[in-house]
Amino acid sequence: MTTAHATSPIKDLTIGRAEVADGAELWRIARGSGDLDLNSPYSYLLWCRDFADTTAVARDASGRPVGFVTGYLRPEAPRTLFVWQVAVEDSHRGTGVAGALLDALSARVAAEHGLSLVEATVTPGNVASDRLFRSYARRHGAVVTREVLFPPAAFPPADASHEPEVLYRIAPPAR
Ligand SMILES: CC(C)(COP(=O)(O)OP(=O)(O)OC[C@H]1O[C@@H](n2cnc3c(N)ncnc32)[C@H](O)[C@@H]1OP(=O)(O)O)[C@@H](O)C(=O)NCCC(=O)NCCS
Repeated sequence: MTTAHATSPIKDLTIGRAEVADGAELWRIARGSGDLDLNSPYSYLLWCRDFADTTAVARDASGRPVGFVTGYLRPEAPRTLFVWQVAVEDSHRGTGVAGALLDALSARVAAEHGLSLVEATVTPGNVASDRLFRSYARRHGAVVTREVLFPPAAFPPADASHEPEVLYRIAPPAR
């Protein structure tokens, strides 16, 4: 089922809310992305059930998901959208899909909940992710500040090679 009000500036794609039926596809896209921490299939199903409001899915003409952005409003700062994972299938990369997903999601959250700040973490080696969030900030006239949120030592020994997770905070410039 295609979500009502789904639109997209990208030809032949629509962007809309997540649905529970998308959970397995989001897991498949995350698994194929190569760069994301892959969570359990169950967690993507749960996400699509409980955080559909703050998640956006890009679909091709047949309705099949080709990219997604998952996010949530921080319980202690409900006007802050934390962007958790963004992934786009290889075949659709480099065409603006991830940027369009972020634009659509933040516009929806701003309209439905109010939005003051967008946060995400980026590992230093992930150039595409760094460019994605900087480019989003530029489009929206926002500034990016960065600080390490989770250093490698915060991760369990079994994940000792984890790069630091650097928190990007994207907000309108201070007046
Ligand atoms: C990161 C990712 C989501 C970008 O998706 P995308 O649809 O190709 O991105 P877009 O086409 O919207 O590009 C957004 C910006 O990033 C830049 N960019 C995208 N891929 C890039 C790459 N591989 N190297 C350098 N810059 C890149 C684009 O040039 C664009 O910047 P611009 O607006 O200044 O030109 C995609 O590469 C991906 O799924 N990667 C694996 C998962 C991942 O690492 N997710 C991010 C961490 S949560």
